[in-house]
Amino acid sequence: MKKTTLAQSARNKLISHILSKKSTSTADKPSIASRAATNVAPRTSVSDIPEAYVRFDQHPAYEQMLVSKAVSTRLGLQNPFFKMHDGSASASTLIDGREYLNFASYNYLGMAGHPKINQAAKDAIDRYGTTVSASRLVAGERPIQRELENALADVYGVDDCVVFVSGHATNVSTIGHLFGPRDLVVHDSLIHNSVLMGIQLSGAARRSFAHNDMQDLERILSEVRTQFERVLIVVEGVYSMDGDIADLPTLIELKRRYKAFLMVDEAHSLGILGQKGFGLHEYYDVDGREVDIWMGTLSKTLASCGGYICGDRALVEHLKYAAPGFVYSVGIAPPLAAASIEALALMKAEPERVTRLQHNCASFLSMLKNQGLATGYAQGHALVPVMTGGSIQAVSLSNALYEEGIHVQPIIYPGVEEKAARLRFFLSAEHDEAQLEHTVQVLTQTMKRIGK
Ligand SMILES: Cc1ncc(COP(=O)(O)O)c(C=O)c1O
Repeated sequence: MKKTTLAQSARNKLISHILSKKSTSTADKPSIASRAATNVAPRTSVSDIPEAYVRFDQHPAYEQMLVSKAVSTRLGLQNPFFKMHDGSASASTLIDGREYLNFASYNYLGMAGHPKINQAAKDAIDRYGTTVSASRLVAGERPIQRELENALADVYGVDDCVVFVSGHATNVSTIGHLFGPRDLVVHDSLIHNSVLMGIQLSGAARRSFAHNDMQDLERILSEVRTQFERVLIVVEGVYSMDGDIADLPTLIELKRRYKAFLMVDEAHSLGILGQKGFGLHEYYDVDGREVDIWMGTLSKTLASCGGYICGDRALVEHLKYAAPGFVYSVGIAPPLAAASIEALALMKAEPERVTRLQHNCASFLSMLKNQGLATGYAQGHALVPVMTGGSIQAVSLSNALYEEGIHVQPIIYPGVEEKAARLRFFLSAEHDEAQLEHTVQVLTQTMKRIGK
């Protein structure tokens, strides 16, 4: 009895010590309410505030968007975005009753719409319903949520995992919560928007290194590491706009030497790299515990919706009790968790899907290169860009291919720099050689015809 009381008192002391400790992440961030807006001349009365400040149709970013749309219409360009599909998109897709070859979905292993995955989702609905209706912290959990997290932690060979309801929100909330104004985040220059938003939220300093340039990363670390408390290096396993991969062994060496954390976004690597599709660490045969934060999404290979962080016990427990995007958001819906569990099981049971995807990517890239097309940094993993030289060229080429029955999206400014505008082809294990050959042939002819 006495022992229990002593243990409780020690625990209470520890808790109050932790609570009284000044946090360098959240507590030090400037409160929005406590500061005046920067660069805004104060007005003497509310009546002086212009109408534009209470109208969304006069928001400068919206007006800019309307100008771009008007220019496109003037140039006779159809809007290539928000096309309405019927059914689930695979190697082909149905739009307005016509079948198109599809290179615009992240259905890497052909899991979208797979009957076993659909059935798993339906079974989960029958047992648990479509939603868990609240945050897991407050309302409790369902076994399938933990089952998914355990299966993902196994892929990386790490202690644990936490699943968020959005891949984008996973990066925003994790980086935004773990780092603060005394910290630095160093990221690849082509890193995904969700990482940039997370850094902005964190209030940490930010430095970007030239794409995949380890010397540039080392230069930054050697110049500034000592000026910060924690330093996070963020890269993508496979880069989402280019299809090339991060140099994991060098990153691990640098993060150790400069006492930094390493975070790898595996959105386009899970199911893509390694014989089993386990991602960047399998590709390089590196122990998953060498990386501090593995991030990924459920929306690509895993046929669902949501994001995850895998890592050591303390990292995952911390996020589960404190990351705003987990604590103050609903838990992953049962059918979505069930779909990803089944997709992961299928990936393990049918590694030939991974082999087929890898074959398709390498084969497609080499066909494009044989035609002398510019494919940027592509190394033949998951996706391949075809550079067009500008946004207008990218949109008109995408539209011309659509007329020919090929659905591939343009990536234009501000998604990439104007001169780096491109078509981005997502490959799938479901594409066959004839479809790929046909696409390269039509692409080459169309580029010649419209002078791109
Ligand atoms: C590299 C990368 N990270 C994160 C995300 C966000 O994932 P989600 O679309 O599942 O929210 C994406 C989305 O495409 C991505 O490409």
